[in-house]
Amino acid sequence: MRKTSLVLAVLGITVHLEAAAMSVEERVASQCATCHGEKGQSVSPLFPSLAGQNREYMVKQLNDFKAGKRKSETMSPQVADLGQEEMAALAAYFSAQPAKQHRVSDEEIIPVGRYIYRKGNSWSGVPACADCHGADGHGTAVLPRLAGQSSRYLLMQLKEFNQRTRTNDNQAMHMVASRLTEFEAKAVADYLSQMP
Ligand code: HEC
Ligand code: HEC
Repeated sequence: MRKTSLVLAVLGITVHLEAAAMSVEERVASQCATCHGEKGQSVSPLFPSLAGQNREYMVKQLNDFKAGKRKSETMSPQVADLGQEEMAALAAYFSAQPAKQHRVSDEEIIPVGRYIYRKGNSWSGVPACADCHGADGHGTAVLPRLAGQSSRYLLMQLKEFNQRTRTNDNQAMHMVASRLTEFEAKAVADYLSQMP
């Protein structure tokens, strides 16, 4: 008798876990994949790739979209009915997918981007991106991974930080973005997009 209920309890838990795992994949396939791709490789350079993006950072962004702290007409309806558990599961799913390197149209811009990324621009006061986002561009738990991100998306975010239309936690990045020239921003975005 005790043995049976134990077996049932174990089975019950197994079935429950499987149902939860399925629903994340279903949610991805039926909703997120339209823009971010089934494996987190975005379908357009205007959408961020989520593959390999840091889990905690993504949970924070999803919460910020939901709370309206990061304003996005596209993302706010996507998160409206997501609870904490589902956000955590979606972030875990995408962070476990492998990131991909992008090809750039002009290789000669890469050394310029690498210089800005590693050393900044001491003449205009741009800090080295690597100081916060890491030498490999993989970020930290709470800082975004930039390596392998779409160049167009990165450029768009730098512009939004500069114009203060990306409003969540933009203090550090407003200072950075407001000091970059358009050429430096393009160079650093292209450099990052082809990083592994
Ligand atoms: C219709 C297209 C679309 C769909 C569907 C969509 N997204 Fe997004 N997502 C975007 C866009 C565009 C952005 C960039 C937001 C901005 O800055 O305006 C974004 C940003 C994000 C970010 C922040 C990434 C970063 O690097 O800061 C996360 C995380 C995210 N989406 C997760 C999801 C999840 C999870 C789903 C499914 C539940 C989803 N998205 C569905 C278009 C979409
Ligand atoms: C002082 C630390 C710091 C430095 C230096 C820094 N960043 Fe950031 N960056 C941040 C933080 C913090 C965020 C996340 C903001 C948030 O949570 O919304 C961020 C976010 C970003 C994003 C948004 C990524 C995404 O997925 O949406 C981009 C793009 C970016 N940084 C590029 C750069 C570049 C390029 C440089 C160098 C020119 C740089 N950063 C230097 C702290 C820094």
